[in-house]
Amino acid sequence: MNEIPWDELRARARLAATKSYAPYSNVHVGAAGFTNDGRLIEGSNVENASYGLTLCAECSLLGDLVRHGAERLVAVAIVAGDGEPLTPCGRCRQLLFEHGGAELLVDAGESQPATRLIDLLPGAFGPADLGPRRNA
Ligand code: THU
Repeated sequence: MNEIPWDELRARARLAATKSYAPYSNVHVGAAGFTNDGRLIEGSNVENASYGLTLCAECSLLGDLVRHGAERLVAVAIVAGDGEPLTPCGRCRQLLFEHGGAELLVDAGESQPATRLIDLLPGAFGPADLGPRRNA
């Protein structure tokens, strides 16, 4: 496993936040991720006049992950426009779990250790729970 380039992830997340489309909330969010094949990927939030259809930065990050053909997300940094870590919303925790699993590391800032996704989403429901629960 490659060393996680946290400084670069934070820098890319901050840059991505400058490219967000957030005219309604004015909360500009950027996300950057590190994949198991050593790629760096990015995303920004994209709001909508309907409000409820807003896409979080993590959604566009995961679009980038799938488009690049990367297998797995290993670490992610998410920041708001002030450059500080932003905790992922509930929906995004679930979306991240699909592609990073319990051990995905979520940046908590320079002065604290990263948080494991399972600690943000205890008892997570994921792809492994589907098979055994299907009716025969
Ligand atoms: N937002 C994200 O991009 N990610 C999150 O995990 C939390 C919230 C965005 C959505 C909306 O554009 C703005 O932040 C305010 O909620």
